[in-house]
Amino acid sequence: MTHFLDIDKSKPEALRGIINTALGMKQARVGLSKGTLDADQPLSGQMVALIFEKPSTRTRVSFDVGVRQMGGQTMLLSGTDMQLGHGETIADTARVLSRYVDLIMIRTFEEATLLEMADFATVPVINGLTNKSHPCQIMADIMTFEEHRGPINGRKIVWSGDGNNVFTSFAHAAGQFGFNLTFTGPEPLDPDQNLLKKARDKGVNITIERDPQKAVQGADLVVTDTWVSMHDPQSARERRHNQLRGYQVNTDLMSKAKPDALFMHCLPAHRDDEATSEVMDGPHSVIFDEAENRLHVQKAIMRHCLGV
Ligand code: CP
Ligand code: NVA
Repeated sequence: MTHFLDIDKSKPEALRGIINTALGMKQARVGLSKGTLDADQPLSGQMVALIFEKPSTRTRVSFDVGVRQMGGQTMLLSGTDMQLGHGETIADTARVLSRYVDLIMIRTFEEATLLEMADFATVPVINGLTNKSHPCQIMADIMTFEEHRGPINGRKIVWSGDGNNVFTSFAHAAGQFGFNLTFTGPEPLDPDQNLLKKARDKGVNITIERDPQKAVQGADLVVTDTWVSMHDPQSARERRHNQLRGYQVNTDLMSKAKPDALFMHCLPAHRDDEATSEVMDGPHSVIFDEAENRLHVQKAIMRHCLGV
């Protein structure tokens, strides 16, 4: 069973294959309208369940459109409407869904839910974000970086802000794709220490630099994300804003990175909090390319999982 659960759980050759497939499939659609089917229909006859226990715009629409372009059918399921949200076990849900569908994509809270789904499903499971990681996003980000700047291997990526789920997938990717990663943010919002230790034990160059101005020196890419994630309590909002204000990505901070540095944000953004509109809409920003590439890279991930 080929699941797509985290970037550190797939082989580097498989990840590279996914990016190459995505680039080819994107190229093949140039000039086509969004509803035109791909020339190849690798998901013909396949049914895909898309389960959301948290809100989503990009993941939801890009998976749905991607499956349809490849000739498959989708079923959008909200966690709260399923028996899953009313006491049925994840294991039973996984076994039942596997009798109806060929592939499951799930966005959920606890990583344990995703892992149990994968353990008990007899069809592939794709991680569409958990509290811990967001691998589909970072695959799209790597594809986007390389389209604009060539190989990401050996480059310097700087994350400014909260050491959250999206950062975790960047840390996983640093080892698999061979880039250097610097985290800059306040100590209470540091990434998980085990994550850092595991990465460093594998020889990944991950550093922490508290001073954002120093951190971005020589950066090829500056990335940030919302200061309050979907799983964070709203009561933490004010404290987090106070802790993170100094890590806002603005024109001054971007001017300290390499002149041709890119800026990324997975979106949704809180404009003028974690990043200014001037940066988001400015010359370094590739935020909408990232969003578009979710579609192409997830199509390649689904093909990889289904072996088609
Ligand atoms: N970046 C991302 O996953 O966006 P959604 O929450 O809209 O799916
Ligand atoms: N860190 C954010 C990412 C949203 C795509 C969250 O988990 O809410």
